[in-house]
Amino acid sequence: MSGLYKTIATLPGDGIGPEVTRAAVQVLTDCAAVFGHHFEFRELPFGGSAIDRSGQPLPAETLAGCRSADAVLLGAIGGPKWDSLPLGKRPEAGLLGLRKALGLYINLRPIRLRRALRGISPLRQDRLGACDFEIVRELAGGIYFGNHEMAGEGSNAFATDVCAYSATEVERVARYAFERAAARRSHLTSVDKANVLATGTLWRQVVTSMAGDYPRVKLDHLYVDNAAMQILLRPDQFDVILTGNMFGDILSDEAAALAGSIGLIPSMSRGREGAPALYEPIHGSAPALAGKDVACPLGAIFSASMLLRESFHLEEEAHWVESAVDRVLESGYRTMDISSADGRVVRGSEFTELIHGELHDAVAHTERYGWGV
Ligand code: IPM
Ligand code: MG
Repeated sequence: MSGLYKTIATLPGDGIGPEVTRAAVQVLTDCAAVFGHHFEFRELPFGGSAIDRSGQPLPAETLAGCRSADAVLLGAIGGPKWDSLPLGKRPEAGLLGLRKALGLYINLRPIRLRRALRGISPLRQDRLGACDFEIVRELAGGIYFGNHEMAGEGSNAFATDVCAYSATEVERVARYAFERAAARRSHLTSVDKANVLATGTLWRQVVTSMAGDYPRVKLDHLYVDNAAMQILLRPDQFDVILTGNMFGDILSDEAAALAGSIGLIPSMSRGREGAPALYEPIHGSAPALAGKDVACPLGAIFSASMLLRESFHLEEEAHWVESAVDRVLESGYRTMDISSADGRVVRGSEFTELIHGELHDAVAHTERYGWGV
């Protein structure tokens, strides 16, 4: 067996970030041991904990460590402790700075309902359908990166946030979304606010002009308000959703709820081919849960399997992880946020331990009977 040698920068961050990152690292360590790979983990300070140490949410050594790694695994950042800092100095500014500096303009958020968790979706079963779609969110532009300004006092206070997109910025992320759709069920839904915003009008023009390059992909457009409604009414109509930075932030939390919990959804952020991609659960740092060992590690563990598949092209390993998670869920084990009447609630670390056991059971089974038995 010829294994891969890879470095993974880990940025545990704040709140539940370190606990869920530990779970993901455990799974990747299991993967390396079983499949003969060598993964070197380099832990780096980031977010609020980095502010506490050095005054910066994104220290230079962290950025350099991410740049030189083969992939980056991030936990979560932020918390009430840093909420009173000015916008540009908060943990979130570190995350935006990292996305910008690594050129991560594509953010992929798969919304996939696990079979064992169908019952916990807030949506009626007959409306839910298979519920398997992907959100491609533009991540390095739009209103997140326009000028943010606050001025004046009292009733004279005002604030501005500038939303800007160039055709190039729209095109590069749209190309990825078209390709993603072409590799799935060939249906791309582009979401904008072209009836009100200039950026929305440009967005729609650019996406429409590219459709000829992808004749097999059925392209349609929705205004974002309608898209928010359609996700709840009939999620089954979606295959790949393409949208801008802020709409993607909002719609992905909404869509995550359909899959049962925001704690379950991983993400990949990437830029040009060959540059390190970043993987993180889409949930936040959940300060109220931190240190209690109750957080669901699945968003982070699925981020690890996405890393194996997308950055290292290790499809078999990714499947090995995801199917072990599914078997643990099917045996009824749950963390608190995904608990159900017939399930058995365990702590976050116990849940990771169960997955660890299941991964090794699968290997023992395979050694005896071969894959696919
Ligand atoms: C996300 C988060 C971030 C975002 C925050 C933490 C800056 O909500 O990744 O969805 O808004 O992009
Ligand atoms: Mg968000």
